[in-house]
Amino acid sequence: MATAVVIGATGGIGRALVGELVRRGGHDRIFAFSRRPIAEWASGVVVGRVDLTDEGTLRDAAARIGEADLVIVATGVLQNDVLKPERSYKALEAEAMLESFRINTVGPALAAKHFLPLLPRAGRGVFAALSARVGSISDNRLGGWHSYRASKAALNMTLANLAVELARDRPQAICVGLHPGTVDTGLSAPFQRNLASGQLFTAAYSATCLLDVLARLTPGDSGGVFAWDGSRMAP
Ligand SMILES: NC(=O)c1ccc[n+]([C@@H]2O[C@H](COP(=O)([O-])OP(=O)(O)OC[C@H]3O[C@@H](n4cnc5c(N)ncnc54)[C@H](OP(=O)(O)O)[C@@H]3O)[C@@H](O)[C@H]2O)c1
Repeated sequence: MATAVVIGATGGIGRALVGELVRRGGHDRIFAFSRRPIAEWASGVVVGRVDLTDEGTLRDAAARIGEADLVIVATGVLQNDVLKPERSYKALEAEAMLESFRINTVGPALAAKHFLPLLPRAGRGVFAALSARVGSISDNRLGGWHSYRASKAALNMTLANLAVELARDRPQAICVGLHPGTVDTGLSAPFQRNLASGQLFTAAYSATCLLDVLARLTPGDSGGVFAWDGSRMAP
């Protein structure tokens, strides 16, 4: 039975990923996990609660599933009550930086801890987490956004590290990061003003591209970070 899981299903991209998975009809079961409850979803979508800062919710969610051939962690934070993207190192604050790492790095790592064991031992299985191009260390000319950049760079290393270990007992499995493009969601809303036309994707378009990219990946790609257009991001 083909099973897909999306964690972060209330997010702009997470919600669109669930919608596109339903539309494609390739999975018998789709689990949509989120911190806030989801009122309505298409039939066939099973909802549940996951808060990345509460490992027990990840453990309980994974225990409901059995085997899954596709797991996507679509969570992330750029700003919230304690965190603002810093323009300068002078704005760095320990609690804000820790909050960014808590959600963007530690959260997906703990999701991997509980969901990687659900990937098939034989045959193809994919674990993907939404990262961001700004997490590339070699491709950073603008600077700024210290906490977000660093937490995504650390996420990318975590995914590469998980891929090494995963290949030992699941040689057909794939563990990657994804850059969704600049997407019209709550996360990007405060930063859309200076974008050239055509640079801002709808969440539905990004979700379609990301699922197409995942479908084309092979085990040799595991450990990398891939953009919405299929290109491999510089580490
Ligand atoms: N939008 C862009 O332009 C863009 C560009 C590059 C990368 N990305 C990445 O894409 C991912 C998704 O972003 P988005 O644009 O869809 O943002 P979004 O609409 O703000 O969605 C973020 C999601 O993360 C969830 N989340 C935050 N903290 C959580 C926690 N502790 N436990 C469980 N869920 C939590 C939110 O849940 P609640 O609803 O409960 O808050 C929400 O579902 C992020 O990793 C982001 O860094 C986005």
